[in-house]
Amino acid sequence: MAATILVTGASGNVGAEVVKRLLAGGLPVRAADRKPARLRERFGDALEVVEFDFMRPETYTAAFAGIERMFLMRPPQLTNVKKYIVPALDAARQAGVRHVVFLSLIGIENNQQVPHYAVEQYLVASPLSYTFLRASFFMQNLNTTHRDEIRERSELYVPVGKGKTSFIDARDIAAVGALALSQPGHENKAYDLTGSEALDYYAVAAIFSEVLGRPITYRNPSALGFLWRQVRGGVSLPFAVVMTWLYNSTRKGMAAQVTDEVQRLLGRAPISLRQYVIDYQDVWR
Ligand SMILES: NC(=O)c1ccc[n+]([C@@H]2O[C@H](COP(=O)([O-])OP(=O)(O)OC[C@H]3O[C@@H](n4cnc5c(N)ncnc54)[C@H](OP(=O)(O)O)[C@@H]3O)[C@@H](O)[C@H]2O)c1
Repeated sequence: MAATILVTGASGNVGAEVVKRLLAGGLPVRAADRKPARLRERFGDALEVVEFDFMRPETYTAAFAGIERMFLMRPPQLTNVKKYIVPALDAARQAGVRHVVFLSLIGIENNQQVPHYAVEQYLVASPLSYTFLRASFFMQNLNTTHRDEIRERSELYVPVGKGKTSFIDARDIAAVGALALSQPGHENKAYDLTGSEALDYYAVAAIFSEVLGRPITYRNPSALGFLWRQVRGGVSLPFAVVMTWLYNSTRKGMAAQVTDEVQRLLGRAPISLRQYVIDYQDVWR
């Protein structure tokens, strides 16, 4: 019988889809989360669930016991890699983990101040084998971070001008992740994962308008206007600053790179933005 695969961030955008994929492939899964009851509710009895918190080393032993391969997600709010991620990976290694599939960020090799860079460096230097899923901007940001502005104000409030984004569906990232966790040949590889086209937000708004059957307007605010609106809406200042900084690089054209890695690895085209909006449309109605 195949060894159990550990999935961290199992209630997140990508982790939940990795769990689904592995289960669909008949593989034994241990899903890890700060609130395991929530995972039990979501996935039923088809898998093991375990309490796991990067900030609480006492949760490491049960999570890593008997695991050889794991999916690693760095929680968005944990920026101190040395303090929270490295000790968990040290514990994983000591427990017998051999391969880590890490959800990283496209362009990371030129972005050394971002926490994912330190995680990648750790993994490259360690005896663990790794697969880096260097993903572009998730489509799922539109049904999470941007859900309410689309649903309640019928607008996209993003400060990127005509900058284009090669949006990727989290389900495609998860499909590649599940492949790297379940098949040989992905050890010590880094994959730049994007959708099949780069779109500006005027095109995104047009797709939303067409699928939802009501006009969705791209507002294109200034960076300061965006920052102010986020903070006023309850987003913490540090998170709002990071979002503004990320969108500033999109404005400069740095989110537009398109690769064919999803097609090559999965043997099919990436999910289009239109298909994503169709699949998630109830969220914005
Ligand atoms: N969004 C993008 O466009 C994009 C693009 C490329 C890469 N990324 C990277 O993708 C990662 C986020 O992935 P995602 O969107 O799948 O996640 P997500 O939906 O943001 O969910 C975050 C997950 O982390 C868990 N978590 C939070 N704090 C934790 C802790 N201390 N210990 C253990 N688990 C904890 C959360 O559980 P709780 O519910 O308990 O908090 C949740 O399951 C980040 O590293 C981000 O930088 C994002």
